[in-house]
Amino acid sequence: MPRKPRNCPAGPPAVRVGPVYIQPALALAPMAGITSHPFRILAKIYGCGLVFSEMIHARALLHGGSYSSQLTYFHEAERPVGLQLFGSEPKLLAAAAQKAEALGADLVDLNLGCPTPRIVRNGEGGALMRRPQLCSAIFKAVTAAVRCPVTVKMRKGWDERLVNAVEIARRAEDAGIAAVTVHGRTVAQRFGGKADWEIIRSVKRAVDIPVFGNGDVASADDAAAMLDYCGCDGVMVGRAALGNPWLFEQIKARLEGNPVPVPPAPPDRIKTALRHLDLLCRFKGDKAALLEMRRQAGWYLKGFPGAALARRKIYGAATAEELRNVMQEYIIQVED
Ligand SMILES: Cc1cc2nc3c(=O)[nH]c(=O)nc-3n(C[C@H](O)[C@H](O)[C@H](O)COP(=O)(O)O)c2cc1C
Repeated sequence: MPRKPRNCPAGPPAVRVGPVYIQPALALAPMAGITSHPFRILAKIYGCGLVFSEMIHARALLHGGSYSSQLTYFHEAERPVGLQLFGSEPKLLAAAAQKAEALGADLVDLNLGCPTPRIVRNGEGGALMRRPQLCSAIFKAVTAAVRCPVTVKMRKGWDERLVNAVEIARRAEDAGIAAVTVHGRTVAQRFGGKADWEIIRSVKRAVDIPVFGNGDVASADDAAAMLDYCGCDGVMVGRAALGNPWLFEQIKARLEGNPVPVPPAPPDRIKTALRHLDLLCRFKGDKAALLEMRRQAGWYLKGFPGAALARRKIYGAATAEELRNVMQEYIIQVED
């Protein structure tokens, strides 16, 4: 029997964020360009407990338009779902949070971690880690504006000289934020190096609100180890779920103390990729689906025989139909 993580002695681990009950305490990380409605549905099917939208700029949400409608769309089956906002103006973020709540979001999440230079230069995303007082002003304005829980996703700090996740988490708690997620890298690190789980542990010890740990969870054992080591209330998974939504079913089983299911055989993995493509086509139309799936399909083939050639064909596909055919041919090839 797998070892049970320390903080979930009986039954499936769960966490309550304000009134929102999350079970299992396992979240899909917000990922721009990836975690749109189709991928979130797959994550839910495979047992993920909480999903987040891609980040949406507060102003874009308030101005509406088809792009922002696409970013904020979710299906009832995805609940509980968090809409993630970014920006740096407290009033604007508060107004956007009201709109997110009116759209039915279960949670509003604030992005304090994005390291993209264009965003950081605007003083948004990860740049907020350098401005603790502004963070407090944002937290207060947003929590006062909505009834739904507000959560914050932050980094370890700005850089190794400014490691202040504990301070930001305390400010969040003081301002009525319902939970925090800590990605154990500094903004300066972007996605390089190793995530520091020590900082997640320190944040968990410093606040009473739920803490989700994030960074480098790539397997069911990693998730259990993070809960065990950091004592955090939940785990958030990002890159390891790319082309691999059944990771959620594996983590869920591990956290429940059940045997971890083996990943599906190659043909079934490609069938899931085809399902992903179909969901994308229905949601975004063939052209956008093709662009998005050309990036993502390769991840579903990771480690398969002949994957390099199939990937080249995938990148070369000119229409969604062609992409579908390449993937179907590949199923026949791996079934042989
Ligand atoms: C392609 C990509 C897009 C991302 N977009 C967002 C985003 O919109 N909002 C956010 O808070 N974090 C974003 N992240 C960061 C992830 O949510 C997560 O914190 C990070 O990948 C670390 O977790 P992991 O090691 O499990 O991948 C993004 C990451 C990637 C790889």
